[in-house]
Amino acid sequence: MTGLNRNLFLLALAALPFFGYQQAQTGATRPAQQSAKPTVYETRADHDPDGIGKFYMGREIAHVMGYQGAEWLERPERIDEERPDQVVEQMKLKPTDVVADVGAGTGYFSFRISRVVKQGKVLAVDIQPEMLAVIEKRKEQLKVDNVIAVKSEETEAKLPDNSVDVALLVDVYHEFSFPREMMLSVVKALKPGGRVVQIEYRGEDPDVPIKRLHKMTVAQARKEMAAVGLVWKETKNFLPQQHFIVYEKPSRQ
Ligand SMILES: C[S@@+](CC[C@H](N)C(=O)[O-])C[C@H]1O[C@@H](n2cnc3c(N)ncnc32)[C@H](O)[C@@H]1O
Repeated sequence: MTGLNRNLFLLALAALPFFGYQQAQTGATRPAQQSAKPTVYETRADHDPDGIGKFYMGREIAHVMGYQGAEWLERPERIDEERPDQVVEQMKLKPTDVVADVGAGTGYFSFRISRVVKQGKVLAVDIQPEMLAVIEKRKEQLKVDNVIAVKSEETEAKLPDNSVDVALLVDVYHEFSFPREMMLSVVKALKPGGRVVQIEYRGEDPDVPIKRLHKMTVAQARKEMAAVGLVWKETKNFLPQQHFIVYEKPSRQ
């Protein structure tokens, strides 16, 4: 090897780690760029203080009601305001039904439903362990064994596939931080032909004394449920301040 060739050879050797590093860098960034999925959500800095600044299909998502509000869910006036027994009646349940009460809170609806589905069960799903602890305590006090507390995640209801006859969502859908993912998991858990009953304060009515982001219009609710493959069946208007909206999971999807 001549002096010049030897120097070129040594230069190339010294540069190898640099090229290796560059390749490693490129290799590391490429998959990340490829996996960056387009999101269905939009974040805006300028938003309602009652919301999380995240928007889905034009609607801002509301803050989750903290477990500190558990007592409010059990307020006696709720009987007149939200007519829970009429809600359960209108759900038209069979004694053997498996019902998922998604966003169950203190189990205000779960325990009422458990009396109707005597040979079935209620899966009381919530994201806050403190709410599930209230449900467990009440189960013991009331000696109820067909209510099962289920801890969900932000993007998943954590329910078995094709196992649920009816999913009930009372005053909760508007606060799901990942509504699309959450509803896709609820749909997966429904049996073919299974129903979703969604109850929300009426967003069209300015006289309903609830914060804007904690209400929903029927048009918005239907649009968002159609986006996850649910078919609207009916909207019932027997409640003083809320919509009672029924959807179905098609038998064939
Ligand atoms: C306003 S409370 C309504 C509780 C109950 N449905 C009722 O009507 O009494 C909303 C509940 O939904 C729960 N929640 C919010 N996001 C959730 C999610 N992604 N999965 C399950 N529960 C959720 C909250 O923890 C809270 O207990």
